[in-house]
Amino acid sequence: MKENKGKILFVDDDAGILDVVSDFLTLENFEITTVNEGDKALEMLKSSEFDLLITDIKMPGLSGLEVLKKAKEINNEVPVIVVTGFASMETAIEAVKDGAYDYITKPFDMEKFLNITKKAIKQKKMGQENKELLSNLTNLDQQLELKINQIFALGEVSKAVANISDLDTILQAIVNIAFEITKAKNIALLLADDTSKELVVEIFKGFNEEMLRKLRIKAGEGLLGNMAQEKIPITKSLLVAKNIVLGKKELDLLGEGEFLCLPIDYRDKLFGMLVLTEFPDQYHVGEDEIRVLSILSRQASIAIDNSMLYDKLQNKYLTTLEILVAALEAKCKNTQGHSQRVSIYAREFSKFLGLIEAEVLVLERACAVHDIGKIVIPESILAKPDKLSEKEMLQMRTHPFKGADILIPLGIMRGMMPVVRNHHERYDGKGYPDALKNGEIPFEAKLVSIVDAFDAMTSSRSYRRGCLSKKEALAEIESQIGAQFDPDLSMKFLKFCPDIMNHMS
Ligand SMILES: [Fe+2]
Repeated sequence: MKENKGKILFVDDDAGILDVVSDFLTLENFEITTVNEGDKALEMLKSSEFDLLITDIKMPGLSGLEVLKKAKEINNEVPVIVVTGFASMETAIEAVKDGAYDYITKPFDMEKFLNITKKAIKQKKMGQENKELLSNLTNLDQQLELKINQIFALGEVSKAVANISDLDTILQAIVNIAFEITKAKNIALLLADDTSKELVVEIFKGFNEEMLRKLRIKAGEGLLGNMAQEKIPITKSLLVAKNIVLGKKELDLLGEGEFLCLPIDYRDKLFGMLVLTEFPDQYHVGEDEIRVLSILSRQASIAIDNSMLYDKLQNKYLTTLEILVAALEAKCKNTQGHSQRVSIYAREFSKFLGLIEAEVLVLERACAVHDIGKIVIPESILAKPDKLSEKEMLQMRTHPFKGADILIPLGIMRGMMPVVRNHHERYDGKGYPDALKNGEIPFEAKLVSIVDAFDAMTSSRSYRRGCLSKKEALAEIESQIGAQFDPDLSMKFLKFCPDIMNHMS
């Protein structure tokens, strides 16, 4: 079968010419359609694709010039050749000025006619190819830009993961970057709870909060639980291909449209799952997206793993320091068990105040090491049975900032620092080490200053005869409201049921 060199529409009112030209061009492997009126030619141009229109100029009805004009309006890319006798050469030249590709004079010089026809079709095809190339180039440009953005986004996550000390920030960054890559309206990051073996939402964007709060995905149960356990990404198209129907809970989460559930795993351990739903119109989750987001989720799992190790390490540091403080206090009658008691008082008082669990925990652990700075104070001062001299007192008063100096390089929880450094500040600004006043003193430090003083008053100190009863200590605290202690907090401490304190002792 010979190659079709192009589709030509030829309009002329002379049936004889139509036949001759048609036969000639067919022999030359062109596909030719002939019509005898301009109107018919224009109709055909609207309904079919042609590579060339050849029109006679002098015709009854629409003239060749009118056909040219209207043909350009219908499809400007189809070249038009006008055919004319010598008598209307000027008209033909006008036609070229008006957009005709060329003109041919009658009677036809067939070789010249063929050349012009071939050139016109070639030019049209080249124009089309250029257009396609340009479009491909634009697509490639866009793809390249997308890839660069994705690589950049992944680089940002890697950097953040490398510098991790705050898991929440990393997880938030991962959700943000997943959004930048996919523009999904709803994104949730679920973390695996090792104890309950459930995936629970940790951070999200979009989605119905109430629905997410109730959401629990048990590893190995249901489609998502199984997928998480098998560590397989799931998309809408995968479900359709496998003819899988979602259960109600899964449908509530994933909806009816495109979605992507991606396990977050690393070295065979499942850390969580990334869920994305409601993509922009026409968006299809393809292998590219899954690949990029898989790298992202890998980074997330490294971040989670690092964070867990970091927490474990911090716990080890803290436990060591707590043991050190307890040992230091045990050596000295004045302070035996002090930090442990302060820690318990702070825990119970902060619960009484309605602090959240995480804040209570930070306070409790901070109190257990609040006097860690005393390990650099000579024992002769710590255990001195008499009142300290001014010089000794100055030395003793260095323990809060020396404690902070010990903790900072260890990267101990930042929330603990105000307790260690500022638990001897006074509301009236006469405390140490920073002489902060009321509003300047961190809340945690103000709270600990009360329970610290309460324990100091109610336990034996060798430089003081006996100790105060709890009632006397509370009266002393009351007398120091607005001077040593924050009024609001100390009033609350006085309300903090003494029975609870009795129960604890
Ligand atoms: Fe202290």
